[in-house]
Amino acid sequence: MRATQLKTGGPFHGSRWLNLLGMDHGAANSTIVIVNLPPDRLDDRLDEAMDIYVAAMGYPRGSAKQRGLHVRKHAGYDSFRFRAAVNPGGRMLAFGYGYTCLPGQWWHDLVTKAVGRRGGSWLDHAFELSELHVTPSAQGLGIGERVLRSLADDLPHRSMVLSTPEGDNRAWRLYRRVGFVDLARNHLFPGDHRPFGVLGAWLPFDELPVVRPRRGLADPEPRGSSGMRPPDGGTTRGC
Ligand SMILES: CC(C)(COP(=O)(O)OP(=O)(O)OC[C@H]1O[C@@H](n2cnc3c(N)ncnc32)[C@H](O)[C@@H]1OP(=O)(O)O)[C@@H](O)C(=O)NCCC(=O)NCCS
Repeated sequence: MRATQLKTGGPFHGSRWLNLLGMDHGAANSTIVIVNLPPDRLDDRLDEAMDIYVAAMGYPRGSAKQRGLHVRKHAGYDSFRFRAAVNPGGRMLAFGYGYTCLPGQWWHDLVTKAVGRRGGSWLDHAFELSELHVTPSAQGLGIGERVLRSLADDLPHRSMVLSTPEGDNRAWRLYRRVGFVDLARNHLFPGDHRPFGVLGAWLPFDELPVVRPRRGLADPEPRGSSGMRPPDGGTTRGC
């Protein structure tokens, strides 16, 4: 669905909204649709997405504008793909986007050094997941996983790669669940004091978001057969 087909307006108040509709989380999730926002329609919904970004990450509101400029720049990159989750009222609850990870890009060049030669095969024909955020009142319903799977769906790339701040949190649980493994840990990017994990997953992801026992952050093994392909001559472990 093109973004232009979306309705606008409509408040969403997290649990209150669920209660009003007499829904549990699973039912509420099923009323949410994932839509594609092509680069030429990005401006229509970018402010809304950036509000989600700062709220989800706990960043100062002023950083939304700066990040928006980055997103606009990224919209010109190869295979740019932006997916949003919207509620029945048309309000955006979550978004994620990425593009082909190529030499010359800031993240690619820094991560190439961080992962070393063996990890380099993860970056050959990789899709970089640049951002994935769910508005705080809608977190923990499975929406983030739906956006992530939608982004990965039918990608021609061999892998998806990302970096995320180190921590034992929902983001890590999600990435582990769909099959991401460590490429580098505690990596420091210039201008950010936080250590990051650099993760990669071979595409396609597991088919279905089924209920599985949780794995600890310390366990680096991917789940099951999972469609994971080892790098040529390498292992499925991070570098
Ligand atoms: C990380 C983030 C994107 C994950 O998205 P999310 O929608 O909150 O979470 P998921 O899609 O992974 O859903 C997982 C939770 O929903 C529950 N869930 C999944 N499918 C469900 C369903 N159909 N019905 C009910 N609950 C469901 C799971 O039990 C799980 O709970 P748990 O994490 O407490 O174990 C989101 O929490 C977020 O934006 N966090 C802050 C910003 C951030 O960290 N971004 C990533 C930086 S790289």
